[in-house]
Amino acid sequence: MRFQYDTIGERFVESKTTAAFAAADTHTLLGALDALGGVRGLDTLDLACGYGYNTRLLARGGARRAVGVDISEEMIRLARAHGVIGGNGVGALELAVGAVRPAGAAASGADEDTEADHGAAAPTEAASIEYVVADAAKLPQMGPFDLATAVYLFNYAGDRSALHAMFRSIRANLRDGGRLLAIVPNAGAYPNVDWSPYGVRIVDRVQEGDAPLLKAQFLTQPPADFEFREWAHADFAEAAVEAGFSTVGWQPNRTPPADGARDEAYWTAYRAWPISSLMTCTA
Ligand SMILES: C[S@@+](CC[C@H](N)C(=O)[O-])C[C@H]1O[C@@H](n2cnc3c(N)ncnc32)[C@H](O)[C@@H]1O
Repeated sequence: MRFQYDTIGERFVESKTTAAFAAADTHTLLGALDALGGVRGLDTLDLACGYGYNTRLLARGGARRAVGVDISEEMIRLARAHGVIGGNGVGALELAVGAVRPAGAAASGADEDTEADHGAAAPTEAASIEYVVADAAKLPQMGPFDLATAVYLFNYAGDRSALHAMFRSIRANLRDGGRLLAIVPNAGAYPNVDWSPYGVRIVDRVQEGDAPLLKAQFLTQPPADFEFREWAHADFAEAAVEAGFSTVGWQPNRTPPADGARDEAYWTAYRAWPISSLMTCTA
């Protein structure tokens, strides 16, 4: 399970840039970063960085350091391939494949919260991005950092000891008072909630180990199978407290403004049972 993204990396890029749930997660993360006063001048760590989407957001926001960490060599290869950011912060490959529109381009019904939508950045910010292949449960000392982001990391902890090790590893890399912003799945939806209109489908739940294993698909062309653990929010909170975080808070997922492609009714239905929530911890 740990290295499944070695084989679905390209499909994940497609999901990230087209799926509604991913647009909502980005909107939620950007709102949280804004609420903290932005990232300008901060040392930042992006765990489970995948192909670097959020790492580039941090660099583009003016972070002094933006370090992306992922267990998958393939995802880090993709991150490095996307890693040259232009004046608007968009990865070169994303521009090449038209996955996001450049700042100032005419709206095309695409997500409102693509990387291209949040102002300009100096090209030199590319120099502040570093990528590292590592298991978030066994991070070396790379900091200290002021801020860590973890968008869909903790649901890949295969057992409770790995979950706790992830939080401890992150805490050890944060300065006292530093923040962890994590997007984590909401448990308990399957089989009652169908997220297919939002780009992902849960197909099975297997009771085993410390948390049920959810079998899922990104609804890309073709669909890509993946699996993750259905931890409860209480499990995440317990691991954070055990790791020494002094506060743990929760906020519901936010959704982007309605547009021609995704109207208010579409987002209202999503907010009734969204895929994920925002977890905020203070070191
Ligand atoms: C759903 S993707 C999210 C990528 C990125 N955060 C984003 O939002 O675009 C999950 C990522 O977690 C990575 N991952 C899974 N287990 C990990 C671990 N133990 N340490 C670091 N990365 C891990 C996977 O390789 C994959 O790239």
